Amino acid sequence: MKVLLTGAAGQLGQALIQSRPEGVGLIACGRAELDLADPQACAAAVFEHRPAWVLNAGAYTAVDRAESEPELAHAVNGGAPAAFAEALASTGGRLLQVSTDFVFNGAQGSPYRPDQPLDPLGVYGASKAAGEVAALQLAGARVLRTSWVYGPVGQNFCRTMLRLHRERPQIGVVADQVGCPTSTHTLAAACWRAIGLGAPAAADQPRILHWSDAGAASWYDFAVAIGELGVAAGLLERAASVRPLTSVEYPTPAQRPSYSLLDCSASRAALGLEPQHWRAALAQVLAEVRPAS
Ligand SMILES: NC(=O)c1ccc[n+]([C@@H]2O[C@H](COP(=O)([O-])OP(=O)(O)OC[C@H]3O[C@@H](n4cnc5c(N)ncnc54)[C@H](OP(=O)(O)O)[C@@H]3O)[C@@H](O)[C@H]2O)c1
Repeated sequence: MKVLLTGAAGQLGQALIQSRPEGVGLIACGRAELDLADPQACAAAVFEHRPAWVLNAGAYTAVDRAESEPELAHAVNGGAPAAFAEALASTGGRLLQVSTDFVFNGAQGSPYRPDQPLDPLGVYGASKAAGEVAALQLAGARVLRTSWVYGPVGQNFCRTMLRLHRERPQIGVVADQVGCPTSTHTLAAACWRAIGLGAPAAADQPRILHWSDAGAASWYDFAVAIGELGVAAGLLERAASVRPLTSVEYPTPAQRPSYSLLDCSASRAALGLEPQHWRAALAQVLAEVRPAS
């Protein structure tokens, strides 16, 4: 089965390449091979390769910068899925669109089910929401939403915190935003399972899936755990002291949802995957991080 992967150099893209199931012929496209801001290039890639699936893991992920680059964020996160969906409708291929908890406003205070209305707070969330809507125009499309993604490579909160634990005696981290960290490894497994489900043909097959690791955390909790488990993994000599901050004390250009846990129960059953607690997934990721990286 031929799968065209976008965002191949990103942290999820790397984990997807590493975990490619047997029998999958992967066409891995980074930015150099396919510019997601160019809808004609996206369509041309589909017509050239005629993949069974496009796995769209590429995205404009700079949440704060998106506030000052809304056109580019929308072109990449909304325009590319639209172009893929339209081209795949001609070739008979399918689309797995990776999306985010930031499509929700975070106000409800309980985990979001896949069928709940979208109400993003910022440009990034709005562009990803547009991408979901565009992707689902294709009957053979699935959306897989996830949250707080990190892994052993790439740019992510975990690697930034490891550096800060190393460099500073004290770190201030926001404690009033709650979600769930998700390792690129478990997320990649969920993506491949979603593709393995085939086309969402039956009415009872979900078209929108939620996947995160299990449990809940604030960014503060996550930062503390990175320090503790980073010491245990031999990556840090000592952990910095972590001071809880409010979002008001740590203003950012983009507003983020204060509570964006995803209700993954139905999706976990559909995917046939047992989640592990985010601390266990974090320990596994830290075991792969190279010292001082
Ligand atoms: N990171 C998170 O916390 C998080 C949370 C929820 C959902 N998600 C979703 O998960 C998916 C994977 O994200 P990730 O964490 O792997 O992000 P990432 O590490 O930032 O990777 C995104 C990739 O997309 C590529 N890209 C950006 N603009 C492009 C363009 N115009 N043309 C071609 N490629 C382009 C980037 O290329 P360059 O390396 O060249 O910039 C990068 O390799 C995305 O759909 C994201 O929205 C992420």
